[in-house]
Amino acid sequence: MTFRSILTGYAAAVLTVGAMAGVQAQAPRVITINASDAMKYSVPTIDAKPGEKLTVKVVSASAMPKVAMAHNFVLLALGTDATAFVNAATPARATDFIPPAMKDKVIAHTPLAGLNETVEVTFDAPKAPGAYTYLCSFPGHFLAGMKGTLTVK
Ligand code: CU
Repeated sequence: MTFRSILTGYAAAVLTVGAMAGVQAQAPRVITINASDAMKYSVPTIDAKPGEKLTVKVVSASAMPKVAMAHNFVLLALGTDATAFVNAATPARATDFIPPAMKDKVIAHTPLAGLNETVEVTFDAPKAPGAYTYLCSFPGHFLAGMKGTLTVK
């Protein structure tokens, strides 16, 4: 075994360990939420560790056109008035019902999923423990019960 081959082997081992550590640190936990014309999330509660990397997928199953029925996942900052948020979201069709004036209250959100589309967002859970509201900001859906709680603990 030459000195050069020892070095090459050492470098390969370092790279392998480094790549494994990278994958472990970065692979998000995937949460799949089904959404239907009944305007409910199939997953109304999510528990997360502070700062945990999550991917939330919204799978829409619908018989209606996207303009009439679509869903998203919007995670709100702690203490946000959810009713005030959806009221501001209702006229915000141009921005997929994310109200520009309340963008700073949004921790993470998906695009809108209509007619059998799937959308997703990857984000770090908040670091501060607490109960964070998530909701669908398509007009009327929050009031119909399309909401949930992400608990950081
Ligand atoms: Cu919805």
